[in-house]
Amino acid sequence: LVLAWSTPSRAQAPRKKLVIGFAQTGAESEWRTANTESIKAAAKAAGHELKFSDAQQKQENQIKAIRSFISQKVDVIILAPLVTTGWDTVLREAKAAKIPVILESRNVVVKDPTTWTTFVGSDFVEEGRRAARWLVEHTKATQGDVNIVELQGTVGSDPAIDRKKGFEEVLKGHPRYKIIRSQTADFTRAKGKEVMEAFLKAEPGRIKVVYAHNDDMAIGAIQAIEESGLKPAKDVLVIGVDAVKGAFEAMMAGKMNVTVECNPLLGPQLMEAAAKAAAGEPLPRWIKSIEGVFPAEVAAKEFPNRKY
Ligand code: AHR
Repeated sequence: LVLAWSTPSRAQAPRKKLVIGFAQTGAESEWRTANTESIKAAAKAAGHELKFSDAQQKQENQIKAIRSFISQKVDVIILAPLVTTGWDTVLREAKAAKIPVILESRNVVVKDPTTWTTFVGSDFVEEGRRAARWLVEHTKATQGDVNIVELQGTVGSDPAIDRKKGFEEVLKGHPRYKIIRSQTADFTRAKGKEVMEAFLKAEPGRIKVVYAHNDDMAIGAIQAIEESGLKPAKDVLVIGVDAVKGAFEAMMAGKMNVTVECNPLLGPQLMEAAAKAAAGEPLPRWIKSIEGVFPAEVAAKEFPNRKY
């Protein structure tokens, strides 16, 4: 029998109260609102001071916010990068000021990967694959071409790039599935409706499926489908990503077929990572969310358990 001495580990030591700067993308979706609330609540529960900046979907505002956090000498910066590129200079500035930067909900592509400490968020390529696998399975008994229109997220953003990639990767092995139109709708409901209206006009009677990179755009598309006189989820299959309550409501109303989960409730993991980063403790490069797929058949049963 080997008895281990129970000495308090660094992880168990009382954590310092931190000043954290959080550069959020904006409030473009139901998902993003839940993400902001989760981070604010977790910071409060941990006793940290959170300096919050809403960039209103503009990268230049996020860069300004990071520079302001650096000049205020915050302990940690949390960044939800709107797009993947354009961060090299400002992240180098944060590193030079010895302020750890944690990425949340979206990733970056930079020359020096040591300018950020960890990424807390989802596997977007896998989310795209899950959406495509559901589609192939759900339509396996049908015949002929399956014409798909795609509503992409914000151009140049990590989830838009990777959800497209994963979806196409699975469909490559199934030649009858064809993406006939693909355009950004910026992750918003209003643009989802607008772009879907244009797709329906351009491809009358041809569209069998809409694959939206988030649920808000899917909900906008549902409105456009209904206004065109078609039945969403029947005449046109509707696939979304996020698994927000709005998607469950649409599924329970028989208007949406499936949503692929993307968890926005990252606050507690981020606070843990911030404490470790501030203490100079090692962190994994990726703290990955564990997620599922919710088809309409399970929506009513799952709805009461949903937290966002
Ligand atoms: O980065 C995550 C994505 O951003 C969510 O899927 C989308 O709804 C949000 O705007």
